[in-house]
Amino acid sequence: MKKNKLLSTILFLLISVVIAKSQNVTIPIITENLATVLQTDENNRLKIVYFGKSLTNLTEYARVEEVFNFDSEGADSNNSAFSVAGINNNFVEPAIAVVHVDGNNSLDLLYNSHTSSKMDDGSILTTVTLKDAVYPFYVELNYKVWSNHDVVEQWSVIRHIENGEVLLNKYASANLYLNNKDYYLTSYNGAWAKEMRPVETHLRQGMHTIETRLGTRANLLTSPNFMLSLDGKSTETTGTVMLGQIAWNGNFAMQFETDVFKNMHIVAGINPYQSAYHLKPNTPFETPRFIYTMSFEGNGKGSRNLQNWLRSHVLMDGQGSRLTLLNNWEATYFDFDQDKLVSLFSGARELGVDLFLLDDGWFANKYPRNDDSAGLGDWKVNKDKLPDGIPFLVREAEKEGVKFGIWIEPEMVNPESELYENNPDWVIKQDDRPEIYFRNQLVLDLSNPEVQDFVFGIVDGLLVENPTLAFMKWDCNSPIFNAHSKYLESQNIPQSHMYVEYSKGLEKVLKRIRAKYPSIHMMLCSGGGGRSDYNLLKYFTEFWMSDNTDPLERVFMQWNYSYYYPSIATANHVTNWSIDKSLKFKIDVASMGKLGFDIRANELSDTDMKFAKQTIKNYDDFKQIIWHGDMYRLLDPYQNDMASLMYVNKDKTEGVMFNYLTNWRYLSETSLRPIKLQGLDKDKNYRLTEINLYDSQNSSIDHERVYSGEFLMNVGFNPLVNNYRTSVVIKIASINN
Ligand code: DGJ
Repeated sequence: MKKNKLLSTILFLLISVVIAKSQNVTIPIITENLATVLQTDENNRLKIVYFGKSLTNLTEYARVEEVFNFDSEGADSNNSAFSVAGINNNFVEPAIAVVHVDGNNSLDLLYNSHTSSKMDDGSILTTVTLKDAVYPFYVELNYKVWSNHDVVEQWSVIRHIENGEVLLNKYASANLYLNNKDYYLTSYNGAWAKEMRPVETHLRQGMHTIETRLGTRANLLTSPNFMLSLDGKSTETTGTVMLGQIAWNGNFAMQFETDVFKNMHIVAGINPYQSAYHLKPNTPFETPRFIYTMSFEGNGKGSRNLQNWLRSHVLMDGQGSRLTLLNNWEATYFDFDQDKLVSLFSGARELGVDLFLLDDGWFANKYPRNDDSAGLGDWKVNKDKLPDGIPFLVREAEKEGVKFGIWIEPEMVNPESELYENNPDWVIKQDDRPEIYFRNQLVLDLSNPEVQDFVFGIVDGLLVENPTLAFMKWDCNSPIFNAHSKYLESQNIPQSHMYVEYSKGLEKVLKRIRAKYPSIHMMLCSGGGGRSDYNLLKYFTEFWMSDNTDPLERVFMQWNYSYYYPSIATANHVTNWSIDKSLKFKIDVASMGKLGFDIRANELSDTDMKFAKQTIKNYDDFKQIIWHGDMYRLLDPYQNDMASLMYVNKDKTEGVMFNYLTNWRYLSETSLRPIKLQGLDKDKNYRLTEINLYDSQNSSIDHERVYSGEFLMNVGFNPLVNNYRTSVVIKIASINN
């Protein structure tokens, strides 16, 4: 090539790069503290060029790409905004994998357009449309941001106008790319009564997946929540950390892939396991939300972001109030009749709780529900146990000044039931294979509209018959085995749609219930804590985190749940689960949420009854702070011999501090040092008073002392926890300065 020609070619190339660069589209998605910057490259592919602290000068986002080196081989495609399968420049896990109508399985998504607008709910929604370079196949990437909470919801909508069905083999909600070099992931595994056990993994290479395949009761073995510390381990008050969840009640998968450049690629969404989806033209498929917050000031700030956001925008009646209750499950199990129940109502009144909750065992006649082996599905009151029906019980409870609530498990059926006898096709099972039971039951096929009507009818029937019913506990005890839907078969819909259609069917029912009954309080329960996703919490006022109500276990469990949920959403009951812990310890722990009792109240000694009544009064006094204030985790029971947490109201005038001994050994280091409080006003003065004490107990705390907020937050306060004071509750009140 002649010299001149070479020069002009180089010049031409340089100019085109400059032009291409100047034509790049930059899309900053910004909250108060976090920015995700998307930018098209010279081929019009959309890349994630920044994920980090937000900038004041918006024009500078166009330049962030310059200071990272994404141009080395391979990395060029690792930071794709939605990684695809089927073109060769992609080396990381795909967020989407499809087979087009003509059998071709490639995808090359190019930037098409984007919009950004303020929504009525105060959020900002940015939607970026990508289109395949060859096929009329589109993916919308949605980013809904809640600026003041630093919360982002990400989901995709997939559609096409090809001439037939496109097979979606993978269809994630979200794809993220982080350049932080060092990642510590906390995920949670569990089992019945062992929910939410944290496991920390230092992610250094390859893929780490958090997933479930249980269908229903999805969180039984794996929680959908995670915490990812970036650039080293975060603490409660320091470090950069992402806390989040995939909000889907069915099978989910979150993949954390550390690439060769030590960057983190996250793909989250519905688990593609047995779920290839045949998408018709012009039928948008909306994926569930992947939701996260970022904190640059440690885990505490991150969880307050999520707690505030959930209360304001997700949880049913998150800004409202809750009903304290007495539940009969552990008091009677299935062994009750009308008289026994009525005799418990006076106990509820005497304790001073708002509601009596009748649990499992009240229904079915041909196959009475006297244990968990029969009757599930036959939602007619059992005439032997309750001859005067539910309306009688509601009336009797109300005579005692107590509201009435009831347990249901509407998605499930015992094989020994009239429901199963009459509607075998409503049950998820493989006809030619042996049935597999979990707690002697099977799952109804909620992809079937008739089953959806049936489930809606259970709730509707109870509320039409008992209009003052104030509460429902919605249980769900079995995962899905032998996944096969007779309904989908009859409609010629592939079986691989079953898991997705089940989850969508459930949500349809809940939407219908809430359209007709917007205000009844409902607890989401799942054989303990098998369900607590943000999507279902739109329909529920609270959830049951575990059947394990041992208060010591609960200190740890509530600690772990508290990263992701506000205390108003967590139902905590005082039970006889552990006989070795005091009533005080139990009530104190259960007070850090929505307080309930699952005991035979009328069997309490006079002293215990007097004490319990006083603590419920105390709870009534401070519950607004627990429900609507800010929570601070002060001393981690995993690293100390005790746990300490506090709640402060938004004005910083009142708070409550809870302290628990978690290690009973002689040399446990509990009262050696003061505990630094958080969230107070440094310029206010506070008096700290110990509450929830028996008449016979003297407090070791000097109630006359007054401390400045500055002192309490920098020097601290010593609640003097020891083997004789295993649980200490301190009321914090500002005094006139
Ligand atoms: C499982 C729940 O977690 C319990 O609280 C109780 O409601 C039982 N089911 C009833 O069968």
